Amino acid sequence: MSNYHIKHLEEYYKVYRKSIREPELFWEEIAEEHFVWRKRWDKVLSWDFSKPEVKWYEGAKLNITENCIDRHLRINADKTAILFEPNDPDEPAQHITYQQLSEKVNRFANVLKKKGIGKGDRVCIYLPMIPELAVSVLACARIGAIHSVVFAGFSSTALSTRINDSDCKIVITSDGSLRGTKTIDLKSIVDEALEKCACVSTVLVAKRIDTDIHMKEGRDEWLQPLLDKASVECEPEIMDAEDPLFILYTSGSTGTPKGMVHTTAGYMVYTAYTFKNVFQYRDNDIYWCTADIGWITGHSYIIYGPLANGATTVMFEGVPNYPDCGRFWEVVEKHKVNQFYTAPTAIRALAKETVEFVNKYDLSSLKVLGSVGEPINEEAWHWYNDNVGKKKSPLVDTWWQTETGGIMISPIPYVTPTIPTYASLPLPGIQPALMGENNEELQGNQVEGKLCIKYPWPSMARTVWGNHERYKETYFSAYDNVYFTGDGALRNAVGYYRITGRVDDVIIVSGHNLGTAPIEDAINEHPAVAESAIVGFPHDVKGNALYGYVILKEVGADRNHDNLRKEINQIITEHIGPIAKLDKIQFTNGLPKTRSGKIMRRILRKIAGNDISNLGDTSTLLNPEVVQEIKENVV
Ligand code: PRX
Repeated sequence: MSNYHIKHLEEYYKVYRKSIREPELFWEEIAEEHFVWRKRWDKVLSWDFSKPEVKWYEGAKLNITENCIDRHLRINADKTAILFEPNDPDEPAQHITYQQLSEKVNRFANVLKKKGIGKGDRVCIYLPMIPELAVSVLACARIGAIHSVVFAGFSSTALSTRINDSDCKIVITSDGSLRGTKTIDLKSIVDEALEKCACVSTVLVAKRIDTDIHMKEGRDEWLQPLLDKASVECEPEIMDAEDPLFILYTSGSTGTPKGMVHTTAGYMVYTAYTFKNVFQYRDNDIYWCTADIGWITGHSYIIYGPLANGATTVMFEGVPNYPDCGRFWEVVEKHKVNQFYTAPTAIRALAKETVEFVNKYDLSSLKVLGSVGEPINEEAWHWYNDNVGKKKSPLVDTWWQTETGGIMISPIPYVTPTIPTYASLPLPGIQPALMGENNEELQGNQVEGKLCIKYPWPSMARTVWGNHERYKETYFSAYDNVYFTGDGALRNAVGYYRITGRVDDVIIVSGHNLGTAPIEDAINEHPAVAESAIVGFPHDVKGNALYGYVILKEVGADRNHDNLRKEINQIITEHIGPIAKLDKIQFTNGLPKTRSGKIMRRILRKIAGNDISNLGDTSTLLNPEVVQEIKENVV
């Protein structure tokens, strides 16, 4: 028997040791006993990190939707698969059963086929958190099309970059989206984006709001009439284990966003396995992850992981503070949620409000609390643990990344004792390593270094879409033969890991990864801007906020600074989205640079974070005098 479900600590250690000693046997047993395959694999794993090339379950044939939907129909057809909770609490929730989900997915898959979409084609999905989003993702997987979900908070420029990068043929969107009191006109964002995308010939539009929108003749069609006409039967496309399942873009420290490619079998096995263990999901539990499906957390732990386990997964359209800051807890009470998974930034924002918003509701159904996306600070950890979990629901601080596909380091609730701010122990199959200053692996405990992973795991991204060299350069060139995460971490006396944050130029703002380079490029497009540099600084709700240092051209020198600040944030919103707006902008005459012309961000970071007592040696700078000027004009 495989060790699919770990129930106590000794078992964890036993399973972990086996997963390290005999990784292939370990993942083979899990794959064998818990999934349906059209053909068995010939080889569990082949890998070479120097290329890098990783293949799991090579030779196997399957369709992930058979595992996430069809196989549950025999005994669980009437069980709720997706529990949709709308933005407006007065609008009724929708309970979509596995049977209904099957029909919806098949209809949608048939519509896509009619539109000429087939195996390997890229489909861009730009939808709010409505059931059509989950259904369209699964419909792509049903026919072997590669979905590329773009978070519906991204701007038209960000959308068009992503559509063009993966050459999507079709865009699925909605007339609009509802978020709290706001209505957002998504369709016109798509229209604007598509002015720059020659590859898209079809746009399918789901209806969510009641306003007239522009539909372009010959390109745009309402989705519902097409679904109504489509058959509820659709044979799944039989995929190879290593066929791409989806592309999901993530920001890098430089250049355009990277389209991380995840493949079918390994991703399925790993997300299912980690979902079961990290949330200790039992048959009739109601599980809720508040993330947006536009991010990896939503892909792996709203859709694929839960559905592969036949779970009931809540999909929430709204926001934590509408109609008031009790909304999360109202939903927990209403649907008797058992596992609740959210981000530290949401916790910090809610912790600022009176605890009455929490205490008003019956949260006794909760069994597990989860945190993801950024380090959770001690205060937020305790607030969450004490007020929401009532100190009885273990809090799992899950560390992972878009690139890793699934949770890598996390406590297993009721199994691993938790320590605030520690992601704790690696899950079975995961072999972390901390690397030191001289590129050596740090041995033993009580060490701090750069976090790498030494051995492949099934859900790791296989490449960057269209740019394998970039994949190699970003993740496999810092150190030989290991995957480099971009994060720093420490290992304490008992071997627990604590993630200390990014060690590159990626800044995590409210749990969203933002690369500095694309933001700087956007700012530099302003006609009055000569040069800019972005750094992060600590923020008590967002974790980090963005601080911009901007050098103006002569033409801009006499402009009103407040107006310029607004214009700069407007440009950022247009190029990336409101999530990348700067909290603070300082105009300066220079930026501290090394003699080779590199901006010394370390100094800028310290000044922005109001930590100016020890700026280190600035005498080697090309222009040490600017440091004083910057210090004096800090905003
Ligand atoms: O820096 C780490 C941070 O988020 C990064 C990954 O971001 P993304 O690809 O958007 O995926 C987020 C959801 C999985 C990581 O490199 N991060 C994620 N989880 C944690 C974390 N930092 C500390 N603790 C965590 N639990």
